[in-house]
Amino acid sequence: MKKIGILTSGGDAPGMNAAIRAVVRTALVNNIEVVGIHKGYLGLHEGEIFPMDRSSVSDIIQKGGTILKTARFPEFAQPEVREKAAQVLKIYGIEGLVVIGGDGSFRGAKGLAELGIKTIGIPGTIDNDLGYTDRTIGFDTAQNTVIDAINKIRDTSSSHQRVSVVEVMGRDCGDLALYAGLAGGATTILVPEKKFTKEEIIKTVMDGKRQKKHHNLVVIAEGVGNSDEIAKEIEEISGIETRLTVLGHIQRGGAPSAYDRILASRMGHRAVELLMEGKSARVIGTVKGEIVDYDIHEALTIKRPFNEKLYQIAMDLV
Ligand code: F6P
Repeated sequence: MKKIGILTSGGDAPGMNAAIRAVVRTALVNNIEVVGIHKGYLGLHEGEIFPMDRSSVSDIIQKGGTILKTARFPEFAQPEVREKAAQVLKIYGIEGLVVIGGDGSFRGAKGLAELGIKTIGIPGTIDNDLGYTDRTIGFDTAQNTVIDAINKIRDTSSSHQRVSVVEVMGRDCGDLALYAGLAGGATTILVPEKKFTKEEIIKTVMDGKRQKKHHNLVVIAEGVGNSDEIAKEIEEISGIETRLTVLGHIQRGGAPSAYDRILASRMGHRAVELLMEGKSARVIGTVKGEIVDYDIHEALTIKRPFNEKLYQIAMDLV
């Protein structure tokens, strides 16, 4: 392997820069040339490719976002668009490609692998929604960002004895709501994986009122539905003042945690090793603390299991 490319794609996640740094530096110590590709598959399609050296990744391990920029580019699902991208890679002499992103980005990598490009995926998304890996890069930092926000909301919520509904990111996966909800002491956690009724939500709020709780914290994953409506219904039925806070993109920013930096460094290092071993169509993950790699086709079929036990613990501790 003489030359590899690297791109970040889809929603950015804290720790992506640490992964880029690890890929670039591991390649360079092994005398492999590295090029960066701007704006994910969109930039690849448009040939936005530039050489990278050690100093291209200096002073980035602590930075949120991605120095390579990113984009959502649904057009990459079209075979002719992928073919053009594969052509670009061939013209530049790029034999291997490291893709940092989530499931959509991995589908793009799978498509390129089918066109003869050696591809390796590194999971970067705050959603932690990839079933084959215990953790994705960015999830730990995002959890901590949510917990920090919840702590602040709790202060004002207790002072006013209100119900606080906090909406966190997570379209199909409730991990961010679940983990941050448990760590933040939420009284109710609403996730797309678990059906619930309006009556159940109201019951926990009313139980809190009976127990003379100073506040009631409902953490809801965005994929559950309309949190504004849920907050209004809680207020109407319970008679307790209710406020909604949508955390939004604040969850995607910020300096990566130590955990995310280390995970990203290990995964980035492994990605280059796999390319040097001649592997392709693999994605890297972490299982029980070890770095593992999976066939990309298989990885994309594994649905993330919902952590029922953790949910139960959270509910028992209310
Ligand atoms: O995929 C990560 C994610 O942060 C989701 O949780 C969220 O639904 C989505 O990205 C938001 O994407 P965008 O920034 O493109 O609106």
